Amino acid sequence: PNKKLLLLPGDGIGPEVMVEAHRVIDWLARTGRARFDLAEDLVGGASIDVHGKPITERVIERALEADAVLFGAVGGPQWDSQGFANRPEIAILELRRRLGLFANLRPAPVFDALVDASPLKPEIVRGLNLMIVREATGGIYFGEPRGIETLPDGSKRGVNTEVYTTPEIVRVARVAFELARKRAGRVMSVEKANVMESGLLWRQTVAALGKAEYPDIELSHMYADNCAMQLAKNPRQFDVIVTSNLFGDLLSDLASMLTGSLGMLPSATLGAPDASGRRHALYEPIHGSAPDIAGKGQANPLAQILSLAMLLRYSFDMHEDGALIEQAVAGVLASGMRTADILQPGTAKIGTRTMGDAVMRE
Ligand code: NAI
Ligand code: MG
Repeated sequence: PNKKLLLLPGDGIGPEVMVEAHRVIDWLARTGRARFDLAEDLVGGASIDVHGKPITERVIERALEADAVLFGAVGGPQWDSQGFANRPEIAILELRRRLGLFANLRPAPVFDALVDASPLKPEIVRGLNLMIVREATGGIYFGEPRGIETLPDGSKRGVNTEVYTTPEIVRVARVAFELARKRAGRVMSVEKANVMESGLLWRQTVAALGKAEYPDIELSHMYADNCAMQLAKNPRQFDVIVTSNLFGDLLSDLASMLTGSLGMLPSATLGAPDASGRRHALYEPIHGSAPDIAGKGQANPLAQILSLAMLLRYSFDMHEDGALIEQAVAGVLASGMRTADILQPGTAKIGTRTMGDAVMRE
């Protein structure tokens, strides 16, 4: 059967970079590598302008029907006056919630040609190929009780609660173990079991799952504060890191900075597989809609194109085709082509379309 893909370009540079990913999709179809049923729709500010809300029920239904969603970026100053519940960014939160996307995969690869862009020394980051799996629908951002209350003496108390259940921990740990099997075979589980009950349960649960079902994977445990330090000191010790929503938020931002090329990084958010092994999944660059350069043809399309490569790998098991795209990106960088965001001495500054052309040629 054809693979059902839903493209949601969004706002700002979203549509500009999506066009370049679309060309790669067309090439995959033209060369007989895959057959797609493609659909495209509005999200974010673009949807607010037409429908009065950041995402419609129809788009959610199309996303539920799709085998995978390729998302661009949403947001922009023209919609900043919208109330919180109607901001463009709600579209992505709604998609996560309705599709049950609980595992956020954030790779932090360092391309050989961009090794000098990292704030760390080249000998520390060369060849870095780290994957952070962040739990994305539970933990302290959602736990009850929560709220701000006024105490009898007039002072106030703000409360958040970190709650994790064993099924929540098991399903995200499983994603990490399965990924590690296709990578270097190592998982680092990160929490603060020394001071947090939810962290202790996390450690015990991941350890038990590893022992029972993934004896082939080398599992280690680390406290989150130490992990932050180790990421800056010796990031190559890690293969797959699996961690909670809060720690994953912080550690994945830190890890992306290590690469020195934020505009290059893709991400995936996966749901639970059903009985037939099918799972909802959404792929997007980690960057936003970049209103400062939108409409100028300057955006770097490589994060969007690499998000497509992740889509092929994780939704369709098309690892060879994913690798082909990643190699094309590496080749383009090696030949000295650079958009403005990754410009280095001795390289040629090109725009979005020329970068897309270069990837197609490679
Ligand atoms: P941003 O990632 O859009 O931009 C930060 C800086 O990086 C800007 O100077 C921008 O020009 C540059 N940049 C980003 N992507 C680039 C690319 N592909 N090529 C070249 N340069 C690039 O983050 P910012 O400015 O904080 O947010 C702008 C808007 O995007 C806001 O409305 C924000 O809420 C939204 N946003 C949306 C996200 C999403 O759709 N998932 C994620 C992050 C932000
Ligand atoms: Mg963050």
